Amino acid sequence: MRKIFIGNDHAGPEYVDAIIEYLQSKQYEVEHVGSVGGTSVDYPDFGEKCGKAVAESNAQNENSAFGIVICGTGLGIGIAANKVKGIRCAHCVSPYYAEMGRSHNDANMISLGARVIDLENAKTIIDTFLETEFEGGRHERRVKKLDVI
Ligand code: RB5
Repeated sequence: MRKIFIGNDHAGPEYVDAIIEYLQSKQYEVEHVGSVGGTSVDYPDFGEKCGKAVAESNAQNENSAFGIVICGTGLGIGIAANKVKGIRCAHCVSPYYAEMGRSHNDANMISLGARVIDLENAKTIIDTFLETEFEGGRHERRVKKLDVI
């Protein structure tokens, strides 16, 4: 089973705790590399930190890790994560985004907005992200092109 790194800024600390508990209840190994306690921080720091944790884990052991990053909208922290080499972070607002992000884009991270995606929807998005396989085929060529940009 893949290890899951969680990164977040100050938006929704209880939301983040609930997601960590949810993943642990499903026996996933979770490492929290985000902020704690809701003190104001800068989302780029935590998008970068989580992205690097996922990329480094995958460099040592291919496809060993996924990441989930959370800020108010999921936008800023996802943009930051996508600047890390080897990261493909899909901003998700519904399970369909997570399904397509995995099956077509081979996303290894997703970003969620604690202020806009309710917790039940977030859990379904996360389940879809974790359970959907990359389709490969024609998508492999496209994903390889992403890696060289
Ligand atoms: C912080 O207030 C907010 O800007 C941040 O959580 C996120 O939504 C940025 O994209």
